[in-house]
Amino acid sequence: MASEELSERLVDSINVAYGVHPGHRAAHAKGVLCAATFTPTPEAARLSRATHFAGPDVRAHVRFSNGSGDPGAPDAARDGRGMGVKFYLPDSTTTDIVALSLPAFFARTPEDLLAFNEARRVDPESGELDLAKVGAYLAAHPEAMTAVNAAMTHPIPASYTTLTYHALHSFGFESSDGTVRHGRYHLVPESGEVALDDAAAESKTPDFLRDELVDRLADAPAVFAIRVQLAGEGDSIDDPTETWPEDREAVDLGRLVVTGLAFDRERDGDVLVFDPTRVVEGIRLTEDPILHARSGAYGVSVSRRTAAESHG
Ligand code: HEM
Repeated sequence: MASEELSERLVDSINVAYGVHPGHRAAHAKGVLCAATFTPTPEAARLSRATHFAGPDVRAHVRFSNGSGDPGAPDAARDGRGMGVKFYLPDSTTTDIVALSLPAFFARTPEDLLAFNEARRVDPESGELDLAKVGAYLAAHPEAMTAVNAAMTHPIPASYTTLTYHALHSFGFESSDGTVRHGRYHLVPESGEVALDDAAAESKTPDFLRDELVDRLADAPAVFAIRVQLAGEGDSIDDPTETWPEDREAVDLGRLVVTGLAFDRERDGDVLVFDPTRVVEGIRLTEDPILHARSGAYGVSVSRRTAAESHG
């Protein structure tokens, strides 16, 4: 399949699940944009020669989101959450980390993802899943189970800042002497992980995650450690469905301090998109087919949402 067609079909298949909501992202439609500052550790500069790891501090934006493509979905819905980070580098370029609160992704390839989305398409008449189809897909693709189980049991977070987020793809970190080590980013909240029980979640207002963030950041910044888990012997670096053993060496790259809500983007026609393939010198992409399918799909989502905006 030509890559443009694949990108369109990926977004179409997301639209089937969540509906079409003009002017909004096809996935992660509801989110909150925040201002942040990143301070690297000395270890970051040893791992990679990327400029934001060399210091001094750089400005960043963080967008926290719910995974759903429905911008009206209530915040207490069971859903994976997203955290996009955009670093503004001294040479006026940007680089992004785009992470989910799930420990693994649903598919190894975009073709598998299309087949999975097709299998879990609900019947428009009854609103029901075809459990036989879902079962057949999962039996043929056991690698999807980690993400499926995590999505089904996902905690309702007390705050966007009390979840750990995982970028899932591996990247090659190239040091100044040319050594390349592969690893995966994790964004770990300093405040720890805090979830709501069912009763507390039921009592929450539809936009409580945004309101909570406003209140929290009025008192103090929220801090995440940006950590890289390095691949060990035998770990796949191009399969985002595979988790690695927890005991893999981890390197703390620095602190991301989220200071308040940001209103300086996504206004007056400005388009904000987080794209994990937007990397800088010192960070390399792998061959991971899901990673490479994302830019095209995000581009389709952007052109559809901006076309909708320009038509009012
Ligand atoms: C082929 C697989 C995937 C497809 C087709 C896909 C599709 C999309 C689309 C269409 C958007 C909206 C883009 C926009 O309008 O700006 C989006 C946003 C997002 N995706 Fe994915 N995605 C995929 C894989 C992933 C993975 C593996 C992760 C995490 C590791 C992820 C995390 C996110 C996040 C956090 C956002 C919201 C970014 C923001 O706040 O602007 N996605 N995705």
